[in-house]
Amino acid sequence: MIKKKLYCSYINGKWVKSSKTINIINPSNNLSIGELCDLGEKGAKSAVSAASNAFSTWSTETSDFRANILKKWYDLIIKNKNELAEIITLETGKPLSESLAEVIYGSSFIEWFAEQSKRIKGNILSSNDNDKKMLILKQPIGVVSAITPWNFPVAMVTRKASAAIAAGCTVVLKPSELTPISCLKIAELSKEAGLPKGVLNIVTGMPKPIGKILSTHKSVKKITFTGSTEVGKYLMKNASETVKSISMELGVNAPFIVFGDCDVDRAIEGLVSAKFRNAGQTCISANRVFVQKNIFRPFHTKLKIRLEKLKVGDGFKSSDIGPLISEKAVIKVEKNIDDAIKKGAQLYLGGKRHMAGKLFFQPTILLDVQSNMNVFSEENFGPIIPIIKFDSDEEVINIANQTQYGLAAYFYTPNASRIWKMTKSLDYGMFGINTGKISTYLNPFGGLKESGIGREGSEEGLEPFLEKKFVSWDTANT
Ligand code: SIN
Repeated sequence: MIKKKLYCSYINGKWVKSSKTINIINPSNNLSIGELCDLGEKGAKSAVSAASNAFSTWSTETSDFRANILKKWYDLIIKNKNELAEIITLETGKPLSESLAEVIYGSSFIEWFAEQSKRIKGNILSSNDNDKKMLILKQPIGVVSAITPWNFPVAMVTRKASAAIAAGCTVVLKPSELTPISCLKIAELSKEAGLPKGVLNIVTGMPKPIGKILSTHKSVKKITFTGSTEVGKYLMKNASETVKSISMELGVNAPFIVFGDCDVDRAIEGLVSAKFRNAGQTCISANRVFVQKNIFRPFHTKLKIRLEKLKVGDGFKSSDIGPLISEKAVIKVEKNIDDAIKKGAQLYLGGKRHMAGKLFFQPTILLDVQSNMNVFSEENFGPIIPIIKFDSDEEVINIANQTQYGLAAYFYTPNASRIWKMTKSLDYGMFGINTGKISTYLNPFGGLKESGIGREGSEEGLEPFLEKKFVSWDTANT
C-alpha cells in the first residue's frame, strides 16, 4: 500500500520542494494520503525555463531516439500497472478495476505516439512553377503547457504529454491538486525510461497562479487543457495575448438515445457503462437519456432492476461505483435533483447520499425530465440518469442538440438509415452507436461547439504539436 508522504514537483529532472503544501484527501474516507508541494508562480516559471532549455536538444533528436524512450516509458508503466492503479483508486476513489483499465488506456497513448513519432512527415508539392521547388516542413511547436483534470489522472496526462514529447516538444504539466500522485509516479517512470531532464516537468499546486503563468508566459507556444468551459475560456483569453496555439476539451452534455427498435437489454448495458464509469464523472458520460415512447416503460423498469444490483462503495472493495470527488460535487448533484423534482420530474430511484460514506451517491433515475431543468442543461458529473420521453427522430434530434455542448453522443438502433441520419444531424464530435464505449487511442477525441477546440489521440494526434513551414525554393542558382 502507498505510504503517506510529501509529494514534490518534478522540474528539470529533480524533485522540488516548497514550504507551502496542500493536503491530499482520499474521497472514499476523507483521510489524508499525503501533502503536495504548492509551487505557485515561481515554480511554474522555473518549469517553463527548464522546458525552454531542453527544447533546443529534444526537438533535434531523431524520431527513433524519441520513440525508443517513449517505448521504455510505456513498458515501465505496464510493469508498474498495479501500483499505479492502487494510487488512482486512493486519490480518486474509483473502483480498482476501473483504475487498472485507466492505466492500460493511458499507457496505450504512449505506445501509440512512440510509433506515430516515426511517421511525422512533410511534403514535396507538385510545383506550379518550373523554376521552383515547393515543400512543406513540419517542426515541433515548442514548449507546451498541459493542464489536466482529476477524473482521469493518468490517461489525460499521457494523452497530452506523450503526443507533445513524441512530436519533439517539451512539456510543463500541471496535474489536478486533488489527484497528483499518479501523475508524479508517471514522471518518475519517465526519468527511469531515460527521458532527458527538462523534457517533462510537473508543476504542482493550486491552479490559479500556476495556470496564469502557463497560459501567459512568452516561451509557451501551446496550451492543451481538459476541464470546464469556464476555465477553458479564461485560458483562451490569456493565450490570445501572445497568440498561442490551443487545444481544449471542455464542458459536455452527452445525449444517450434509445430507439424503440433496439435491443433494450443491450442498450441498458451500454448505458450502465457510459454512465457509471467513474461514478458519472467522465466528460463523455451520458448526461441525458432519451427513450422512445413505445419502449419507455419496459426500459425504465428494467433499468431500475439493473441499477439496484450496482454496488456502491470503496474502490478497493470490489464496488461498481465509488465516491464523488468532493463535497462540492455532491452538493451540485443534490441541487440538480431538487431542481428537477421542483419542476415536475419524478424521482424513480435513488436521489440521496449513499450510506457507504459522505461522498457516495445512490444511482438515481429521474423520469419526466424537461428541458427547463438543470439536470437537462448542465453537466451533472454524478450517477444521475435523467430520462426524457420522445416520439420521432426529428423531435429527438432537435432536443438532443439543445445544448451549447457537443462532445459525445450515443444511440441504440439497428436501422442503418436512421444511424446515418443521426450521425449527420446530431452536433457532436464522437458517437457510440449500439455501444457505450468509445475511448481508444484511435479516437480523434474532442468536440464541437463549446465542448472544445482540436482533437487528441488518433492518427492526427501529433499535428497540434507541430508547426508547418512552407518553402518556395528557386532552384536556378542552387
Ligand atoms: C474525460 O473524461 O475527459 C476523458 C474520458 C476518456 O478519455 O475516456
